[in-house]
Amino acid sequence: MKRARIIGTGSYLPAKVLTNFDLEKMVDTSNEWISTRTGIDERRIAADDEMTSDLALIAARNAMDMAGVKAEDIDLIVVGTITGDYPWPSTACIVQDKLGAINAGAWDVSAACSGFVYALSSAVQFINGGNAKRALVIGAEIFSRIIDWEDRNTCILFGDGAGAVVLEAQEGDAGVLSTHLKADGSFWELLYQPGFGAVHPASVSGIEQRLPFLRMAGNEVFKVAVRSMYEVANEALTANDMTTADLAMLFPHQANRRILDAVKKRLKLTDEQMFINVDKCGNTSGASIPIALDEANRKGMLKEGDIIMFDAFGGGFTWGSCLVRW
Ligand code: ACO
Repeated sequence: MKRARIIGTGSYLPAKVLTNFDLEKMVDTSNEWISTRTGIDERRIAADDEMTSDLALIAARNAMDMAGVKAEDIDLIVVGTITGDYPWPSTACIVQDKLGAINAGAWDVSAACSGFVYALSSAVQFINGGNAKRALVIGAEIFSRIIDWEDRNTCILFGDGAGAVVLEAQEGDAGVLSTHLKADGSFWELLYQPGFGAVHPASVSGIEQRLPFLRMAGNEVFKVAVRSMYEVANEALTANDMTTADLAMLFPHQANRRILDAVKKRLKLTDEQMFINVDKCGNTSGASIPIALDEANRKGMLKEGDIIMFDAFGGGFTWGSCLVRW
């Protein structure tokens, strides 16, 4: 049976580092507060002339180099992002053009911090159904452009970046074993961007009301995130007749350290079974899982046959898991 196998990973973080000490000069906060509440020490911020498609392109090229795949060999490009270059066209189309991936269909997936898991799951269905041989799946975000830099509740959490994987249909046991996607739209108002869409079209008064910036009810997000990430990770293991003991490594969405610690505790994972880089990257939303995966992969932390899992949660609410034999 052919499976969608990850044959290359790549990532890109912008050069500019924004530390907690930098934030102390911007809003009423402290390194100590941010570090103890979130586990974040620093995050990257895209340069003014860097767009989401630029970050995505570098991550994609790195993944394609590792995979040894040329642009014309790619059948589809799926980008998980909610901070694309434009409301439309899709950032995937812009990446498709910049890569010269002339044989690829391309679209974006809007699932906030679950964007990569949703995008990966979409691509896997095409490969499993025999409709694509190779897919490029990217998570890319520039949250620094939708953050209210005067709101200390939210501006300390997020960072910019991109990660990518190349999937290829291959015979054998290795590859994506399952994907489980979930949503509960009744929670949409706990984490969202009010403007500018159909409800609040662009207006000067909308800017004065700060509608284009992210809004979040942090405490409520926290509780549902922990429960949902735990449940959907368990669902994936049960569906594959596995337990947490089978997991070589979990790659959770890097929301913040306390969410990750709570998930780790509920799943009874060891430190070695949980990959965490939120301290250096902050919350990069849909990009966080492929950035983490690429870091682990390039450090040689994954070996053939390892069982790994992606476990995401984000606005919508959306959440999902993806179990992979490496
Ligand atoms: N610096 C200093 N004080 C702050 C800051 C800050 N940056 N932000 C908030 N505070 C203050 C608040 O104003 C509040 O003060 P008050 O008691 O005088 O009103 C106090 O700190 C406590 O605020 P809480 O919101 O209760 O702080 P909490 O311990 O819940 O931590 C946090 C806030 C980190 C946002 C937490 O709720 C959380 O982790 N939530 C999850 C949200 C998240 O990670 N979202 C990311 C997007 S969703 C996703 O990726 C899954």
